[in-house]
Amino acid sequence: MTRKVSVILDEVFPKIPHDKRLVIENYLSLLLKWHNNNNIISSSDTEYVIKREIYDSYQFSNLITGKTFTDIGTGGGIPGIIIAILNPDKEIVLLDRKSTYIDFLRIAQHDLGLNNVNITEQDFFVNKFQLNTETVLFKNFSNKKIAKMQYEKKLIYMIDTVKNSKSVKKVYLLTGTPVLELSEDFVEDYKLTVKKISSPFFPTSRYFAEVLL
Ligand SMILES: C[S@@+](CC[C@H](N)C(=O)[O-])C[C@H]1O[C@@H](n2cnc3c(N)ncnc32)[C@H](O)[C@@H]1O
Repeated sequence: MTRKVSVILDEVFPKIPHDKRLVIENYLSLLLKWHNNNNIISSSDTEYVIKREIYDSYQFSNLITGKTFTDIGTGGGIPGIIIAILNPDKEIVLLDRKSTYIDFLRIAQHDLGLNNVNITEQDFFVNKFQLNTETVLFKNFSNKKIAKMQYEKKLIYMIDTVKNSKSVKKVYLLTGTPVLELSEDFVEDYKLTVKKISSPFFPTSRYFAEVLL
């Protein structure tokens, strides 16, 4: 039998205040409704989405500092929408190049009453595009142009593109084990620090990486 979403949320996030948990529940309901027709998240299994995607975003939210953020390649709003719900004092730009996601994000922003969210439909790799926030977030960013690159080259390409925007001082990434194998030169040049994010629900950990520009 499928368990009630509110029950799973209460169990997984006992420390999130009830009013914010309700907003997350409404977001999930919208996300899963849209997913049925538009395939906008990694899975249609609600419990998996809560324990993997929402929980990782919650952990991400607990580690970030700063006031203004762009979530690049936000897709259905993960992690940006969760961060916006949990931190009404932070301003979040949700950026994606695909109109299906943008249409969904506009509806979600309106229905959830998220006043601290801005939505930008934009290809991040387009020349001369300027970001306006002090921090950039990447979670599971993928793009054909960089898909075949070795991990370190891929990161350099992404970070160097971010560097074209003078406002950005910091990049946060939620990523996998390859971040532990970056060269000493990379660690030094980009002032990289990494923290392990363990999951009580899955054997695979994720990593939170900070790069200073
Ligand atoms: C694998 S999804 C990750 C979505 C979300 N961050 C998550 O963790 O569930 C990658 C996203 O990056 C977006 N994307 C890929 N290339 C992009 C580009 N050049 N500019 C903006 N968005 C891009 C895609 O449209 C897609 O939504």
